[in-house]
Amino acid sequence: MQAPRCDQTAAWTALTAQFAQSGRRFDLRPAFADDATRAEAFSLSAPEVFADLSKNHWDAETRGLLLALARECQIEQRRDAMLAGEPINHTEGRAVLHTALRAPRGAAPFSDEVHEVLDRLLAYVEQVRDTATSGIRHVVNIGIGGSDLGPQMVVPALDAFAHRGLQLHFVSNVDGHDIVPVLRGLDPRETLVIVASKTFTTQETMANAEVARAWFLAGYGEGGEAAIAKHFAATTTNVAAAAKFGITTTFGFWDWVGGRYSLWSAIGLPIALAIGAENFRALLAGAHAMDRHFAEAPLEANLPIQLGLLDVWYRNFHGYTSRSVAPYHQGLRRLPAYLQQLEMESNGKCVDLDGQPLPFGTSPVVWGEAGTNGQHAYFQMLHQGTDVIPVEFIAVKTPCYDAAGGTGLPDSVRAGLADQHHKLLANCLAQSQALMLGKSTEDAMGETAPTASKSLDALTIARHRTFPGNRPSTTLVLDRLTPAAMGALIALYEHRVFTSGALWRINSFDQWGVELGKALCNQLLPRFASGDTTGLDGSTAALLQRLLG
Ligand code: F6P
Repeated sequence: MQAPRCDQTAAWTALTAQFAQSGRRFDLRPAFADDATRAEAFSLSAPEVFADLSKNHWDAETRGLLLALARECQIEQRRDAMLAGEPINHTEGRAVLHTALRAPRGAAPFSDEVHEVLDRLLAYVEQVRDTATSGIRHVVNIGIGGSDLGPQMVVPALDAFAHRGLQLHFVSNVDGHDIVPVLRGLDPRETLVIVASKTFTTQETMANAEVARAWFLAGYGEGGEAAIAKHFAATTTNVAAAAKFGITTTFGFWDWVGGRYSLWSAIGLPIALAIGAENFRALLAGAHAMDRHFAEAPLEANLPIQLGLLDVWYRNFHGYTSRSVAPYHQGLRRLPAYLQQLEMESNGKCVDLDGQPLPFGTSPVVWGEAGTNGQHAYFQMLHQGTDVIPVEFIAVKTPCYDAAGGTGLPDSVRAGLADQHHKLLANCLAQSQALMLGKSTEDAMGETAPTASKSLDALTIARHRTFPGNRPSTTLVLDRLTPAAMGALIALYEHRVFTSGALWRINSFDQWGVELGKALCNQLLPRFASGDTTGLDGSTAALLQRLLG
């Protein structure tokens, strides 16, 4: 039987009634005051990740109804279909098997192919990392979207584990202002260029690859053509196109790996170069542990599924249109950008699997910034703005600046760093506390505000200093930001996106929405040479003339 869409279930009807009756008015403050066990009751542990879900707008009844909704939508069967390699990306007739990329040998479909490439890739990685022999000091990864965002996010996150003699650079934008500053100052003889593209046709990547090749040949001098074999590598499903480009060192992957789910494949080459083979395998193992949790934990204890259910509750009942991600770890500064592609490209859809228009909202806007930086930018709006935006905090218990040993810093500096870490964590907890507790006008009246204008009356000032509170948040806690923890965290997000997408009954694994702009760009390009604006709409014609004039 075909799995129903969330809004066609009995649980949805029950949730609608529950929301009207009490869910809409749910207040975290009495919920905690009335229930000493709330924090524990709404916390979950998954591999490498502890989650406090208690500061969210739900109670046991709501959670029970959401779990019933998941069951009615056959979430377990749909998950199992994905893991078994059924072609759930039906608009492209493809399986969705990123989980197979991190499964132990023999434990998932396509195991032989996966492990053959992985072993070869990691052997290559160790050769390049032997910098005394390879002579490579810089790696430039050219790719965009899923061929960029994953590695670009994970490499700084795992800086503590990185090779100190190998510098990683990322180029994605077709704008020359991206590649020029990267190549400036690099020596081609010390540089490895990776051309990362699932299709090996993407405009931005191909343009940058051509520039990199021209730069390489001009800078290398005699023997440059032959040296491309050593200094260029490709990671792609289109091995033939890479060969045509002149790249002979190629690591393949398969059409059943979606671009935004591909960092576990050969696309992870920059990550492996940075952290080494053993750590890369640990990253895969961490993700696999989360896969097992997703596949095996009962729904009541299943963290990705519960996060996905909360996403549906917030988007479709509370009407919240965005979610902010605040990782309190500077290494995770690129996580929000990574999650934007993961979630918004996956679930930014307006028709269901049958192509029927959806009568409810799908992907929220996902955005954010590393803490504490975000606090000094947009947190004002989170606390006192007119929109309620659920926030996801990520805290890492123990800092690690250099996994290979000391930071080379004197003890006095280390003491300062320990203090800084407490400040970081205190800020993280304080923000979720402030969002929840708020501050009444009455309490604000009772406070002194030394910087407040003396020309305004106390009540007016107090109103400006009032916080509505009751703003929801989730806090994820990792013990350390290790490769395994990083793998588990990313897999957690992947499965959470799967969950909301499955309930909405959309195809989370295609991305037709990026096609129209690409096609129109190709139509416009020749007009930049000809200057012809015939047949264009008035705005586009005028802008083109202005840009050419
Ligand atoms: O933006 C669309 C998209 O197809 C993404 O899904 C993908 O990650 C990106 O372009 C890059 O594609 P490719 O890896 O084929 O160059």
